[in-house]
Amino acid sequence: ESLFNVEDRIGGDSELSPRGHAFARSLAAFMQTRRTEEPITVWTSALKRTIQTAQYLREEPISNRALDEIDAGVCDGLTYSEVRRRHPEEFAARSKDKLNYRYPRGESYADVIQRLDPVIIEIERHERPILIVGHQGVLRALYAYLMDTPPRECPHLPMPLHTVLELTPNAYGCTERRFPLAC
Ligand code: G3H
Repeated sequence: ESLFNVEDRIGGDSELSPRGHAFARSLAAFMQTRRTEEPITVWTSALKRTIQTAQYLREEPISNRALDEIDAGVCDGLTYSEVRRRHPEEFAARSKDKLNYRYPRGESYADVIQRLDPVIIEIERHERPILIVGHQGVLRALYAYLMDTPPRECPHLPMPLHTVLELTPNAYGCTERRFPLAC
């Protein structure tokens, strides 16, 4: 949880909230219990909140701009009610087609899905477990790809805060486990 999450603001590059820091510590403790023979690779975005979430892990995180949250363009830093009030047409257009709607001077979910192509190639050829400390929009897109969810559903997938989603490849796709951590 970032300070922007607390205020219900989208985008930005805010720091973690106290609860976000508590989660970061729980995550480090949790990862100790999931330790495997193979070393784990840790990826974050280039934004403070994911870098701070990974700060207590034993592994050295690699930050990647391709994992940054959907760019909300002119709506960056606003709350959803401010978007509705200041940009009513944008708010309505996004509610109609959240997959293809592109924020003015920003991105759509379809753009994010495309931007993540090289990340997906890297995930698929990686042989070790990867921990991705990400953002709601980006994690939705990665999850939809790995779980073979239709793109139209991607922008609406539940992606709870303070939860580790473990996806393990199997013969048909991935097995999923969710671990909500105390914080
Ligand atoms: O900052 C934006 C959110 O993480 C993505 O939320 O696409 O459901 O508005 P949304």
